Amino acid sequence: MIRPIIIHPDPRLKKVCAPVPDLSDALRSLADDMLQTMYDAPGIGLAAPQIGVLSRVIVMDCVKEEGEAPKPLVMFNPEIIAASDEQNTYDEGCLSIPDQYGEVTRPKVVDVRWIDRDGHEQSDTFDGLWATCVQHEIDHLNGKLFIDHLGAMRRQMITRKMQKLKREMART
Ligand code: NI
Repeated sequence: MIRPIIIHPDPRLKKVCAPVPDLSDALRSLADDMLQTMYDAPGIGLAAPQIGVLSRVIVMDCVKEEGEAPKPLVMFNPEIIAASDEQNTYDEGCLSIPDQYGEVTRPKVVDVRWIDRDGHEQSDTFDGLWATCVQHEIDHLNGKLFIDHLGAMRRQMITRKMQKLKREMART
């Protein structure tokens, strides 16, 4: 089921999310909805608070090449366990901040540990766009948006645009 995506500013996007307990069918179905919502948007990552669920769940698929097989990833309780000194800068966007972008510098390579859709602990190393995406999504679980990495002026400008967009959406 495709769920509505919450647009910034919203208090639910500023909350530290709770770890998920043992996996359940409800949690698996939440993850499936998140993947469907992300692909529909379309986007390359989505965090549970973006659909109003304040739990530590993210989904990603950074495969962008046309014709390449999709690579959906579901992560419960993801944690960054190591990060490279080497940094990487990407022009980031966010489904909760439509049509706005900003350059964010983050570690280029990260090791991440998480619980997968079957309840098994996994860990892997992410590089490039995947590394940026997983850090961006884990930020969401800590109430942090990519605009919080930008300067105050730029952040306020984007926030004002989003307030205007939400007023327009409310009218239609
Ligand atoms: Ni985002």
